[in-house]
Amino acid sequence: MTILVTGGSGFIGSNFIRNLLQSDDASVVNLDKLTYAGNSENLSGVDGSSGYTFIRGDIGDTDLINDLLTTHKPRAIINFAAESHVDRSIVSPEDFITTNVVGLFRLLNVSKDYWNTLTKQEKGAFRFLQVSTDEVYGSLDAKDPAFSETNRFEPNSPYSASKASSDHLVRAYHHTYGFPTLTTNCSNNYGPYQFPEKLIPLIILNAMDGKNLPVYGDGQQVRDWLYVTDHCEAIQSVLNSGAVGETYNVGGESEKTNLEVVRKVCEALDELRPSASGESYKHLIKHVTDRPGHDRRYAVDITKINKELGWSPKKTFESGIKETVQWYLDNQGWIDRVRSGAYREWVVKQYG
Ligand code: NAD
Ligand code: TYD
Repeated sequence: MTILVTGGSGFIGSNFIRNLLQSDDASVVNLDKLTYAGNSENLSGVDGSSGYTFIRGDIGDTDLINDLLTTHKPRAIINFAAESHVDRSIVSPEDFITTNVVGLFRLLNVSKDYWNTLTKQEKGAFRFLQVSTDEVYGSLDAKDPAFSETNRFEPNSPYSASKASSDHLVRAYHHTYGFPTLTTNCSNNYGPYQFPEKLIPLIILNAMDGKNLPVYGDGQQVRDWLYVTDHCEAIQSVLNSGAVGETYNVGGESEKTNLEVVRKVCEALDELRPSASGESYKHLIKHVTDRPGHDRRYAVDITKINKELGWSPKKTFESGIKETVQWYLDNQGWIDRVRSGAYREWVVKQYG
């Protein structure tokens, strides 16, 4: 019962593989290109286990994917591999088209051809699960209802446009070829092993270093935060019991403004590692130039996944954020190693 996970060395993929290998006797093949965001250390502890195989490679390498599929004969493919950071997509959009559109297309196409070689029974059991984002739906006004699966796609950044393109291809491969796909559209995740270019780990690390905490614009943009292991459980539910060809929205039912999030991180740090002066980390908050085209609000309606599959988030934001801050405090070695030359270059480019 092998599962091919692509992009499994990133933030969500590594949490997913860790959970899966701990809770199941599944075996996992992880294909990851190890871009700046991929880190084999995210899987330390499980990387020696008999059920785990790592292969470095690109989802756009059709020969490699074909070899992997015929060798390992997975019963499912879960695609986490993507360029995932909105700010980078504004600076360098082409990487997002290369991986999220062309790479995903090649992975999907080779997987469909492989699926066609299976027996009727194997074909019926096979699944291709695309891990996507709520950002494909665009931006909400304060009083709009949360995104449901029937909302129009209105992506606003090169990142969300590239993810919307991949979601369309996945949909088309089900509709045209009967390929058994599933798609999840999830809200913002946070938790251990998140690369410190994203808001929450960036704020934790800057505060630990006594640096400014950059808040884009007025900080009143709203995101719906979900603890990463809750997302991993949602993906497992959809994989095991989701209806083929369907999409499922996944969210934390935890809408917060960015300023609220940054303040919560400061409060957790004030408690867990008070500053030497005794002053709250909040004094480091600094409003900086806004992100171009910044989406104002995301919120996810989880009625479908809740009613059909019984999934709902378990972790509250309050406990999740404290655990996350504690994880970063306890893992200085991991932090030091991910702050490579490439990371430092990005910080200088983005924040000056
Ligand atoms: P991440 O950037 O931490 O990890 C992405 C992983 O994909 C890395 O290990 C990277 O090396 C790998 N990768 C990139 N290009 C590749 C390629 N061409 N071939 C093979 N591997 C490649 O991202 P994440 O936050 O873990 O997100 C995982 C997925 O979930 C993405 O598809 C993202 O769009 C989606 N998602 C993320 C969030 C979030 O809040 N982080 C929310 C909803 C959906
Ligand atoms: P991010 O973690 O990049 O996720 P996304 O853009 O996919 O939602 O950003 C979350 C929010 O935080 C988003 O509204 C942008 C904002 N933000 C800041 O205010 N300052 C920062 O330094 C970063 C990285 C993000």
